[in-house]
Amino acid sequence: MRKQVWLVMAIMVLGGLHMGAGAARHPVAIDQYIRMPTDRSTNEEGTKWAILLAGSSGYGNYRHQADVCHAYHVLRKGGLEEENIVVFMYDDIADNSYNPRPGQIINNPAGIDVYAGVPKDYTGSNVTVDNFLAVLLGEKDMLTGGSGKVVDSGPDDHIFIFYSDHGGPGVLGMPTNPNLYAVDLIDALQKKHDAGSYKEMVIYVEACESGSIFEGLLPGNLSVYATTASNAEESSWGTYCPGMDPSPPAEYFTCLGDLYSVAWMEDSEIHNLEEETLKDQYSIVKKRTSNDETYMSGSHVMQYGDNTISAERVYEYLGNDAANKNSSFYDESVLSFLPLNLPIGLHYIAKGKLAKGVHQRDADLLFLWHKFKNGKEGSQEKLKALEELLEELSHRMHLDKSVKVIEKAIAGDENEGSALKFVRPSGAPLVDDWMCLKTLVRTFELHCGSLKDYGMRHMRTFANVCNAGVKVSEFEEIASSVCAATEFSRAFSPLEVGFSA
Ligand SMILES: *[C@@H]1O[C@H](CO)[C@@H](O)[C@H](O)[C@H]1NC(C)=O
Ligand SMILES: *[C@@H]1O[C@H](CO)[C@@H](O)[C@H](O)[C@H]1NC(C)=O
Ligand SMILES: *[C@@H]1O[C@H](CO)[C@@H](O)[C@H](O)[C@H]1NC(C)=O
Repeated sequence: MRKQVWLVMAIMVLGGLHMGAGAARHPVAIDQYIRMPTDRSTNEEGTKWAILLAGSSGYGNYRHQADVCHAYHVLRKGGLEEENIVVFMYDDIADNSYNPRPGQIINNPAGIDVYAGVPKDYTGSNVTVDNFLAVLLGEKDMLTGGSGKVVDSGPDDHIFIFYSDHGGPGVLGMPTNPNLYAVDLIDALQKKHDAGSYKEMVIYVEACESGSIFEGLLPGNLSVYATTASNAEESSWGTYCPGMDPSPPAEYFTCLGDLYSVAWMEDSEIHNLEEETLKDQYSIVKKRTSNDETYMSGSHVMQYGDNTISAERVYEYLGNDAANKNSSFYDESVLSFLPLNLPIGLHYIAKGKLAKGVHQRDADLLFLWHKFKNGKEGSQEKLKALEELLEELSHRMHLDKSVKVIEKAIAGDENEGSALKFVRPSGAPLVDDWMCLKTLVRTFELHCGSLKDYGMRHMRTFANVCNAGVKVSEFEEIASSVCAATEFSRAFSPLEVGFSA
């Protein structure tokens, strides 16, 4: 039975290659994607663990928690046990007053509810950096609140981490303060490695500038392989947003997912993960996230750490849905020869073109805009939506302007502060002195107000101020004079909301 399927596939592929256009479109050797069923890992030892973390809150960030809930079901269908999957999410979406389907979350325009059944291990104020690191390290006594579930792994175990959120150079967001800094994540990985409490680990990160979390920081000798939605200096993208094709059901004013995140999950849902390697998945996700290599509304998916792990089957980490066991792993280009009736979420394959994304940082604005636009004319609600939109826009302008003036003051007027936008060559970390970076962030927030999600984009400037050896006292003097007169310094005071570093 299986042999026949293989044969049919081979004929269709060859047929395709003989049709001139087909050959031009698929120059890669197709046999690289087609393997004998015997050619697979049989390593069934050890337990598969996972940590899923949505680092944002608020209905405008619907997509991050939707990604994480969806991921939970992908892993459960793959055969992982609930007791081995730790979920962090703020949990303010399903019952949010804006949610058109109360009690449900979808991650795809045709999507079914992905909220039901997801364990509430760490929700609300329990979603913290300290709890995340304690869960990763298996340190139950370091937890504050939550279900108490930790990754209690042993030397034969595989660990998968998926993080979906806003980010900035060197930092990943949390719905609580402080945020997660790259240095603290890498330190924890080193510690976990030194404890010998896993065999290998795979980390998938969706966030703006997510490459900067690992660039020049994740050594190749920790048995950790990571891929990120974007490189160290670009945004990642929301998808299934209002106005896009495909767009969410009309009653949703918010993006349902993120491009890189839905790419790995929708790929995992149709392929036999006992045959597909992590490298195969990386290639597929990279193609979709780049918008078919145009990089228009798309980003560069990157890989870091121990690349030898990428030769392993995805199954080792995500398990495999029994329903996909009889399907062979093949490159998506092969699918175009097959008359498959694909579900709408996979519509990008069927149409041979990809859905465009929305800039991660603009996706929340899009929500505020739609909230305003769809509000009832003359209603209190519409007025409030407009106020929120204007407040968010002016807060963003305040941050951009303040940072710009500080840059000029530090770098000198003539070069417009461009030296502080400098991106170090690949292989070099964002900053050498992480304590300095955190101190500057706190100093900035003290005088200029909280950075919030949007302000994480300016992290590179703070890093470069440290790299240039500027004294904290000098920075503080400038920041305090630049922000002295602005209302936002008081409106978003870190003394009330906490510091993000
Ligand atoms: C945090 O965890 C504790 C202990 O499980 C729980 O009682 C509390 O309700 C949680 N807080 C939130 C906001 O979820
Ligand atoms: C691992 O790699 C790092 C950086 O590449 C190096 O400093 C460290 O000594 C290596 N550790 C071991 C145990 O080889
Ligand atoms: C896979 O193929 C086997 C053998 O033909 C069959 O018994 C089984 O039901 C199939 N499984 C699925 C999920 O289609």
